[in-house]
Amino acid sequence: MVTIVVGGHFGDEGKGKIISYLAVRDNPDIVARAGVGPNAGHTVFKEGREYGLRMIPCGFVNEDSRLLVGAGVLVDPERFLNEVKITETEGRIAMDRRCAIIEERHKKEDVADEFLKKRVGTTGSGCGPANAERAHRTIKLANEIPQLREYLTDVPLEVNSAIDEGKQILLESSQGFWLSLFYGTYPYVTSKDTSAGMAAVDIGIGPTRVDDVIVIYKSYTTRVGEGPLSTLITEENIKKYPLWQDILSDAKEKGFTGKVNDILAHYLGEKGTVTQRQRRIGSFDFELARYSAMVNGATQIGITCLDKLFSECYQIRDYDDLPKRVKDYIRKIEKEIGIKATLISTGPEPEDLVDLRQK
Ligand code: GTP
Ligand code: IMP
Ligand code: MG
Repeated sequence: MVTIVVGGHFGDEGKGKIISYLAVRDNPDIVARAGVGPNAGHTVFKEGREYGLRMIPCGFVNEDSRLLVGAGVLVDPERFLNEVKITETEGRIAMDRRCAIIEERHKKEDVADEFLKKRVGTTGSGCGPANAERAHRTIKLANEIPQLREYLTDVPLEVNSAIDEGKQILLESSQGFWLSLFYGTYPYVTSKDTSAGMAAVDIGIGPTRVDDVIVIYKSYTTRVGEGPLSTLITEENIKKYPLWQDILSDAKEKGFTGKVNDILAHYLGEKGTVTQRQRRIGSFDFELARYSAMVNGATQIGITCLDKLFSECYQIRDYDDLPKRVKDYIRKIEKEIGIKATLISTGPEPEDLVDLRQK
């Protein structure tokens, strides 16, 4: 049984939180990491401690799960080894021996390149230059790095054998659909496709092996870095949104000042995990959400951060306890996308969640 979790907007949808919940609740035998590489930043809580992860699967919170990093994922060796130490996952984590390696020069190029840094607004983690070199076929692979030797495995062999034995696989991707090199807002995109199909490719399983694709959306849309955000909330259009006007009033009462979008970003705590850059805030973009559910082949959707829009639903875990206006908000998203919301997140801790999946 394979479940893929991907982001439906521009990343930072709170996939880390959802994955950590699924890892604890479903007890997967394997949690495998797909996606571009250490440009991702996932925030995960384990026993009250906060972890900002860029290489290690968020599912590490389940101490019984085997952790794998797929061949499609770029590896920054220093960061990987550091995160293994912080998360104490030595002995149960491995990467595919064909993972491509990010070197210092890739990171330097990422921040020195005017187009990448200024126009695209990359994370500076070296992913773009490394993927370009990978396509040139001159990049180093993990099996050439002595410090990584003890972590090498054949990920497709491990995962496909586990599937044959009826085991549970949780496949976590990174970034979001609209950052896809193929389908996103080019050229303001990352250096690879970010859809569920690519996640399967990243770890070496065929499309016929995937059972469920859960696309995660935040209850509003955010974007870090350059590129269009058509539902951006501004001084001019906020009058159209009573909900956002209420949030703005709340924020102002609490002493936040400045431009509307800056106030909202500060109030909602929207700052990049990797770069600490402020994220832009938009209302929920239904059109983008519908399209990404289509290309990802969503079977279920998850909605996060509802408590940030509706403080009265903070930490609610039972659907019946959700206030009517929150249920209406969820229903509207489900209707517009045409897929049922099965995971509804009401706080940052893994257990702050309404789980409506069929048991
Ligand atoms: P990706 O970048 O898409 O992988 O998602 P992410 O998990 O990295 O999200 P990120 O860490 O960038 O930002 C999400 C933040 O919101 C984290 O601090 C999470 O702990 C937090 N979070 C996730 N879900 C919820 C929620 O439902 N309510 C609240 N209040 N916080 C949440
Ligand atoms: P790169 O992936 O570092 O090359 O950055 C390309 C674009 O994708 C920039 O706009 C980044 O801000 C964005 N990006 C890359 N990874 C993430 C992520 O994990 N969350 C949000 N934005 C991201
Ligand atoms: Mg993130």
